[in-house]
Formats: sequence, structure tokens, C-alpha cells
Amino acid sequence: MSHSSPNDVIYQRPDDFDLEHERDERDVVFYQQLLRRFRPSRVLDLACGSGRVTLPLARVAAEQGFNIVGVDVEAQMLARARQKCADLDERVQHRLTLTQGDMRTWRSTEPFDLVLITCSSIAHLLTLDDRLAVWTQAFNHLLPGGRFVVDVTMPNLRVFAESLQTPPRALLELDTDSIDAQTGRRLVRYKATSFDPFEQRATIKFFYDRFDGDEHNHYLSDFESHVYFPDELRLLFVHTGFDVEAAWGDYSFRPPRSWSREIVMVGRRPASRGEDTQLERAS
Ligand SMILES: C[S@@+](CC[C@H](N)C(=O)[O-])C[C@H]1O[C@@H](n2cnc3c(N)ncnc32)[C@H](O)[C@@H]1O
Repeated sequence: MSHSSPNDVIYQRPDDFDLEHERDERDVVFYQQLLRRFRPSRVLDLACGSGRVTLPLARVAAEQGFNIVGVDVEAQMLARARQKCADLDERVQHRLTLTQGDMRTWRSTEPFDLVLITCSSIAHLLTLDDRLAVWTQAFNHLLPGGRFVVDVTMPNLRVFAESLQTPPRALLELDTDSIDAQTGRRLVRYKATSFDPFEQRATIKFFYDRFDGDEHNHYLSDFESHVYFPDELRLLFVHTGFDVEAAWGDYSFRPPRSWSREIVMVGRRPASRGEDTQLERAS
């Protein structure tokens, strides 16, 4: 079993992670809508990170009366999530539990009716064994009728093809430029991608320039990621016992198209005959 790469330096800098994602609201709104649509009773958010998506979902949990558990392997990301959670209304705080764990092995004794892995976090699963372990754990955590939802970025074949030139090259793209409106802190990110077609592995070097007052910090965060193709996702669901209930091509519930930028897939654990498909609603 391989570990989440220690090279993911950005996860040791959760403030920078939040800043680089500050404009990523589409997925947050989408998952809030999804929870209102599915009306779950107990939600598991694996690889919840700094709580970027989890905390807004906890607000929906407080509104609708369900509980949510966030799990992440990186202590510093979780610490940031806890810090942000402490600023929330107590009703919201009570709905959320944050805990450290590896999504490949973490086990809960209590079942869920919705498991989420957001923001392409399944790309961290570099081996087939790891992917099967996570899909199987998700299945086992779910009650019959429960759902497992994942999202990934659609493979960008243009970028991958570029990296396969002879001699190989990785073009440097200016990727993100974010400014914290309160502190004026600015984070500029560049990335260079190489692709291994046999392993379906993208090796991405993220270069960061962080400007904080007079301070300028430059650092590199290596990122090894598995590249999923849509039918492979479908196969992972089917192979581990799920029915594929829905696939969308973006965070607006639109069907997948040849130009779609995302893949969001929903697997459903089949409901056994006569079995209740919902947890008792938490009071
Ligand atoms: C791209 S971030 C996404 C965080 C969060 N889901 C969001 O949407 O902002 C990926 C997260 O996956 C976590 N991660 C990577 N490998 C993991 C594993 N094996 N188990 C649990 N978390 C993992 C990292 O620590 C990081 O917080």
C-alpha cells in the first residue's frame, strides 16, 4: 500500500491551500444542493482537508438535522478545519466530527447513508489496490440504498500529449493567482505536468510564489496523481457492488459531454428487499 506522498507540501500549508481554492465555489454549492436533494441522515466526507467543502456542508447539516464526519490523513489540514469550525455557530459545530485517518483503512462502527470524496481527492489513490480498498470501504460503510459520490477533473489530453513530445517536456502554466482580501497576502501558482500513459499517472510540479507584506516565499509541491477515465470510475463502482445511479459532467447536474471539465459519479449500494434505505433521522 502506498502512502499519500510526503511531497504534497501544500497540505502542510493549509492557509495557502485555502487561498488557492478561494474562488472554487461551484463544487461547494453543488454539494450543498446534493445534500438538500438526497436528505441524508449521516454523511462521511473522506479526505475532507481544511474543511473547505465540509464546513459549508455542516451548515446544511444543522439546517436539516443530520450529522457529518470528516476524515483526513494530514494533521495540519485537519487542524485548520478545526480552527475554522470553532468560529461557527454551536449548532453547526455539534453536527460535525473531524477525525484523522487514512481513507484506505479508516473504519467507523456506525454506518452512513452518504459517503463523499470531493475535489479530485481520489487522485491520491495511486495503486489499483488503494482504489479498490477505498471503494470497498465506502460500500461497507453504507447502509443499503446509501450513496457514494466522487468527483474528478476530466483528463486533459492536450496537456498530457504535450508532455509526451520527443524529447519529453513539461510546459509551465500560470495556474492560479489569488489575493486574500483581508491580509493582502498573494499566492501565485504555476504548474508543469508530465504524464505516464501506462500507469495513468500525472506527475505535477506546483511552484508557488507567496507574497506576504515584504516577505516573498517560493516553494515546490510535487503531486503524483492517478488519472481516471470515466468508464474506469464506472467499473470501480460496479466491481465493488454499487449501481451507478448518476454521472454528471460538471457541478451543475448537467450530463457528461465531450467538452465536460469534470466527472461527478454517484454509486448506490443496492437496497436489499424489505430493508430500510434510510437511517433513522437523527433528532
Ligand atoms: C485536494 S485536497 C481536498 C480537500 C477537501 N476535500 C476539499 O475539497 O477542499 C486532498 C485531501 O486529501 C487528503 N488525503 C490524501 N491522501 C489521503 C488518504 N489516503 N486518506 C485521507 N486523506 C487523504 C489530503 O490530506 C488533502 O487534505
